[in-house]
Amino acid sequence: MSVILETERLILRTWEEADVEPMAAIDQDPKVCEFLPSLGTLEATRAHIAHIKNHYTEHGFSKYAVELKSTHEMIGFVGLSIPSFDAHFTPCVEIGWRLASSHWEQGYATEASKAVLNYAFMTLGLDEVVAFTVPANLASRRVMDKIGLRYCPDDNFEHPKLAKNHPLCQHFLYRLRQADYLALMGYHPQPKALNQLLRSRKATLNDLPEIIALLNDDVLGQTREQSGTAFEPRYIEAFHRIEKDENAYLMVILLGEEIIGTCHLNLLPSLTFLGSTRLQIEAVRVATSYQRKGIGEWMIKQAIAYGNTHGASVFQLTTNKQRVEAKQFYERLGFEATHEGMKLYTQTT
Ligand SMILES: CC(C)(COP(=O)(O)OP(=O)(O)OC[C@H]1O[C@@H](n2cnc3c(N)ncnc32)[C@H](O)[C@@H]1OP(=O)(O)O)[C@@H](O)C(=O)NCCC(=O)NCCS
Repeated sequence: MSVILETERLILRTWEEADVEPMAAIDQDPKVCEFLPSLGTLEATRAHIAHIKNHYTEHGFSKYAVELKSTHEMIGFVGLSIPSFDAHFTPCVEIGWRLASSHWEQGYATEASKAVLNYAFMTLGLDEVVAFTVPANLASRRVMDKIGLRYCPDDNFEHPKLAKNHPLCQHFLYRLRQADYLALMGYHPQPKALNQLLRSRKATLNDLPEIIALLNDDVLGQTREQSGTAFEPRYIEAFHRIEKDENAYLMVILLGEEIIGTCHLNLLPSLTFLGSTRLQIEAVRVATSYQRKGIGEWMIKQAIAYGNTHGASVFQLTTNKQRVEAKQFYERLGFEATHEGMKLYTQTT
């Protein structure tokens, strides 16, 4: 048996043989079964637990047995599973719960599922978690609401494993994306967690609308950029020039599939410092809603790692003097304002 998560009042753990009987009693309680296709026998529960164990072995996560810390009573399950049916939203990872009716209405499902959701996004790094139930299961829908999943009316579906005229066939789908979870929590992940959540890569032309939107999502940028998908051709031309330049690297930072940061790197071969290579870092942006979460620092470290692997020994950037906080940010990362940056603008854009 392994403990996966602990909350204030609960332990979420893997399954033991001794769980089969109490879980069967839960499965056979008519109150519990009101909105579930019946799992009426001990053997059906045993088979379900065997399936959960296989799921854990195969995927590294599953529905977990929920135990009260105070008495060590096993009161049901809360956890994650990959549904075995095909629907418009599959493949996906579902969060689900089933607790003994004697323990309802004490916030246990909410407490356990919040911990599972955090685990799903922050430890497993899942892009999205869904939940579904029949419209009449208001308790379950309330738990979905309380932990931050959002009902998506466009995603209502008929459960493919039930006949169309079955009273439980109609289902509502709730969804939550990792990016929205982070925003919802106002989460400030540890740098270690950022390594699991974020990735960086070279930008492609398809990324251009999001990059331009990021450049525009900025006090100074607003005055000089144009956002939107109807492109200013100069952006496209500039992108192609950057792409062709072997010393240039336009980096994007992704959370799931969403671009939440960008910076433009240029390797500058130079004669000074005995023929050193410099890395110029410019156009640094993190989306406003993701600022102050350590993402900018993570991105600059990616930029420095890129420079290191390309032989750079001097890292330089300019930041507008109006950006007081940005200067402090770079100083925290070890940059020093040793030079006066000077610019000559010869054309108005
Ligand atoms: C769904 C279930 C796990 C909830 O467990 P729980 O520990 O009672 O849940 P919580 O106490 O954390 O939260 C339940 C919420 O639903 C609300 N609720 C309960 N019954 C309700 C009803 N009939 N109508 C509206 N809201 C209801 C509660 O008031 C509470 O919300 P609140 O905190 O805002 O007051 C439990 O009812 C259960 O095991 N049901 C049977 C199995 C099942 O249906 N599983 C889900 C299949 S999708």
